[in-house]
Amino acid sequence: TEAHRGAVLHFLDDPGNNPEAITGSVEYIEDGLLCVHDGKVLALGKAAELLPQLPDGTKLTDWNGSLIMPGFIDTHVHMPQLPVMASYGTQLLDWLENYTFPHESRFQDADWARTQAEQFTQLLLAHGTTSGLIFCTSHRASVDALFEAAERQGMAMTAGKVLMDRHAPDTLTDTARSGYEDSLALLDKWHHRGRQRYAITPRFAPTSSPEQLALAGQLASAHPDVLVQTHWAENTGEIAWTRELFPDRTSYLDVYDHYGLLGTHTVLAHGIHIDERDRQRLTETGSRIAFCPTSNTFLGSGLFDLAGARSAGVMVGLASDVGGGSSLSMLATMAEAYKVCRLRGQTLTPWQAFYLATLGNARVLHREQELGNFRPGQQADFIVLDHRASPLLAMKEPYSRTLLETLFDLMILGDDRAIAATATGGILRYRRATASLGESLT
Ligand code: GUN
Ligand code: FE
Repeated sequence: TEAHRGAVLHFLDDPGNNPEAITGSVEYIEDGLLCVHDGKVLALGKAAELLPQLPDGTKLTDWNGSLIMPGFIDTHVHMPQLPVMASYGTQLLDWLENYTFPHESRFQDADWARTQAEQFTQLLLAHGTTSGLIFCTSHRASVDALFEAAERQGMAMTAGKVLMDRHAPDTLTDTARSGYEDSLALLDKWHHRGRQRYAITPRFAPTSSPEQLALAGQLASAHPDVLVQTHWAENTGEIAWTRELFPDRTSYLDVYDHYGLLGTHTVLAHGIHIDERDRQRLTETGSRIAFCPTSNTFLGSGLFDLAGARSAGVMVGLASDVGGGSSLSMLATMAEAYKVCRLRGQTLTPWQAFYLATLGNARVLHREQELGNFRPGQQADFIVLDHRASPLLAMKEPYSRTLLETLFDLMILGDDRAIAATATGGILRYRRATASLGESLT
């Protein structure tokens, strides 16, 4: 048994997007104790109450009042795209052609895939992300590499081989048949192996033939508990191209609908340029959207309508979309989400932002029975946030009187420096090099 002492914050339910009406959905314990046994949450409560009850030999770590929170979850991120980040001067389609496809082609080399996957998981941990829904490349070895690295780090990943059989270089394309067979083999190998889950992963409508989308739909209907992930309605050029390629379909969403790719297990990245009929169909099918704000501003894709999605009852997750996105940090992602909302005349409360990055995203991925908060029995995936991490945050600290203000400082000014430590399954996987916190007391 181990125990971690600090200020503990987690969510029991959706706090909504009104700063006042949060009662019952947020639990904050100023001097709290998170007790972990066998990789799972054993108990959470006030330190004063739990400390006397700890079994002999419990290892106690005092995080000195820093904020202990569930690990962040990223609902849309590309493992192979770290070196594609910060590519200058493009929008989606020329970005794919000039930067992304050439780079993803390197993953034909399984050794390259392994070193990249290892770096990717380590960087996620350094940014406080312990779980996610991941695009690999079209190469089978990229999926093995990602899951093997995730297993080593105890991370709960959902990931898949990209299906793409047209409109891309030969070094990346599969065929409708080989893509199906490779997906099935990877699904059999990895789905429910430990904490890992497979996801059926057509890249987006323009790079899949109708035959490939039909086979992806067959795979999805044969495996109803497997997630489907793809991109949708990100960029106006992409949308116009999709309409040309699928003239018989009434809309971009109808392409995925037609091939049986919508449902409660589907996560669509972006969904920016959409209308009421699209939202209604998302609600009817239970399909989810991954909102990727740093990508949407960086690539000039557009401003997602979060309030519109919420009021239509569409479930929305928050995601980095690296390498289109410009940061792996879910704190930076929250900051950009807030700014996108402001540009649309909306707001995003810190409660809603931190909820989305933890329990909300766990729900999007159907993993709320396992992670996303600190209910007893949940996997002990947690981070320690140092709200004095950077000079700026330290300057602001004396003025941040309420918890809401501290959380808002963290999400607007914070980045990976704010992550003092990251644990998965109760084991510390990352410690910030400069951390002076968390000396073991016993
Ligand atoms: N649409 C198709 N592929 C991609 C990708 O790799 N990144 C983003 N942001 N959009 C896409
Ligand atoms: Fe993406």
